[in-house]
This record gives sequence, C-alpha cells and structure tokens, in this order.
Amino acid sequence: MKILVTGSSGMLGTDLCDVLADKHDVVGIDIARGKGQESRVKKFHEVDITELEAARKVIEAEQPDIIVHAAAWTDVDGCEREQDKAEKINVEGTRNIASVSELAGIPVVLVSTDYVFDGEKTAPYVESDLPGPLGVYGRTKLESEKIVMKSLTYYVIVRTSWLYGRYGRNFVDTIVTKGETGEKLEVVEDQTASPTYTKDLANALKRIIASGVAAGQEILHISNAGQCSWCEFAKKILALKNINTEVKGISSERCGRPAKRPGFSVLDNGRFNKLLGCQMRPWQEALAEYLGESHGAR
Ligand SMILES: NC(=O)c1ccc[n+]([C@@H]2O[C@H](COP(=O)([O-])OP(=O)(O)OC[C@H]3O[C@@H](n4cnc5c(N)ncnc54)[C@H](OP(=O)(O)O)[C@@H]3O)[C@@H](O)[C@H]2O)c1
Repeated sequence: MKILVTGSSGMLGTDLCDVLADKHDVVGIDIARGKGQESRVKKFHEVDITELEAARKVIEAEQPDIIVHAAAWTDVDGCEREQDKAEKINVEGTRNIASVSELAGIPVVLVSTDYVFDGEKTAPYVESDLPGPLGVYGRTKLESEKIVMKSLTYYVIVRTSWLYGRYGRNFVDTIVTKGETGEKLEVVEDQTASPTYTKDLANALKRIIASGVAAGQEILHISNAGQCSWCEFAKKILALKNINTEVKGISSERCGRPAKRPGFSVLDNGRFNKLLGCQMRPWQEALAEYLGESHGAR
C-alpha cells in the first residue's frame, strides 16, 4: 500500500513512517525535513499544508492509497498566543488536505486530541461524548475534525493524548533532564490523562490501516491504557530512572500556563479494542520501554 504521512518529520510522524516502512511504500510531507534523526521514509516532499496548490500537486502526483494527517501546530500555549497561526495550520491546513483527498477519492486518518474535551467528566471519554475545548489548540483541532467529517466520504479520526517519543521535545525527556540536576520539581497534579508512547500509537495506526476501517467513517480513542496526573507521571519517570529528586504537586493555576487544559481527559479505548481486537498496553510498561531505549539502561 502507498501511504502518505503529513507531519512526517514530527514526533509521531517519524515513528509512524518507520513503523509503516516495514510493509508499505511511505511518502512523507512536512514543512521541513527531519530534525536530526531521519526515518526510513523513502520519499519526502517539503510541503506547507497551508498552501493548497502545493498540497494538491504532491497528493495528485503521488496518488497514495491513504493519507495519515498528523501535521499540526501542537504548541498548546503558542496556539493560545497566536490564534491566527493555529487557525491557519490546524484548520486551513486540514481543509486543504481534506479537499484534495476527497477529490482524489483518498481516505484520511486524522490524528486529533483529548484536548477537544472540557475535562468535566469523571469517567473516561467515549467517542460519542460531546466535545467542549477549553483553549485555541483544542478548538482548532475540533474544527479540523469537523472539516474531515463534513468533506470526506472515508475517514478515521483518532484522538490520542499526552504523546512522547524519540523524535520530539517531550515531558519525559524534560523531567529526566531536570531531575538529573537534583533540583526539586514542581509538577501539575490536577490534570489527569493517559501518557502515550508514539511508537505504540504508530503501531495502532498501522493496524487501523491494515484493517480497512478507513473505508468507512469512524472516530476512535487510542491512548496507552491507564491514567495518571502529570505529577504521578513525573514520579514514575524518575523512579524508573532511579533519580532521587523531590517532586511537589502544584495546581494548574499556580503553574500559570496561558492555555487552559482539561482537568480530566482520559480516553476510553473500548471501541478501538473491540473493532481491532487488540489492546493498548499500560502506560507504565510503554514508558519503561521508552526510557530503556532512549535513555540507556535503567
Ligand atoms: N503531542 C501531543 O501530546 C499530542 C496529543 C494528542 C494529539 N496530538 C496530535 O498528534 C499529531 C502529531 O503530534 P506531534 O506531537 O508528533 O507533533 P509535532 O512533533 O509538532 O509534529 C507535527 C509536524 O507537523 C509539522 N507542521 C507544522 N506546520 C506545518 C505545515 N504548515 N505544513 C506541513 N507540516 C507542518 C511540524 O513542523 P514544525 O515542528 O516545524 O512545526 C511537525 O514536524 C498532531 O496532529 C497533534 O495534534 C499530539
């Protein structure tokens, strides 16, 4: 199968290209080539997805069987400060990918986020729960979902949460680096979700593509199993690395980030489990593997 991945130089995109390259012909597009570590993607096109003609040219020339749309502006606080940029990349960029794909009859897998929810629930969010984003990032991602649902005949929207992986700046690496300085850490304790390893999500996306689910219209929640707060996540990272640094839980208010985040955004994987006949592993297990692979022996 020929698969085109947007955002192929990003944290998820790079792992996804690697995972897909085993069995498929992978074409990557991104605003810039890989940041240091190249994936095994055979073909790469430098494309700004906000430029319709550029996106159209590449998609029409490549004629992929399916597109995984992972490109986005993912800086949650940046989106809050620069709404126009967030709209342009997350909304207009998706509109361009969706319109060209529909014209060419290509199904799209859109990667979306738990931040489309307001966090008021106390049980994991299912796909039919009403979204209610609290910030610009979540709102623009929700807009992108709506565009995909409205303009495409065949699509899968995959919502995921709290990604970390080898090919991007992430919370796990930050905690390890800060923890090693020995300074006491203050970490938010009133936000709960499921940390998700990009490699695990990439494998789940590969299964979705192979299953033919994309020849329909589907929304799926996919995160590593289990839940924790950022503070519990940080403590587990340090414990697995044998770093004895004190971690103090603080409120989101005290942390003072520009964008409001949901207090509880755990996603229920039930539909994915049932449809694909498989389960995501617990976040602690995925984290242990990541730390072992990326940070040397534990
Ligand atoms: N990170 C998370 O915790 C998280 C959680 C839930 C869902 N998601 C979703 O998962 C997907 C992948 O996220 P990620 O963490 O892997 O993000 P990422 O590392 O920022 O990857 C996104 C890629 O898209 C590129 N891009 C940005 N603007 C573009 C444009 N105009 N044209 C073409 N490419 C462009 C980015 O380039 P630059 O680096 O130069 O901007 C980057 O290489 C996103 O759709 C995100 O919304 C992420």
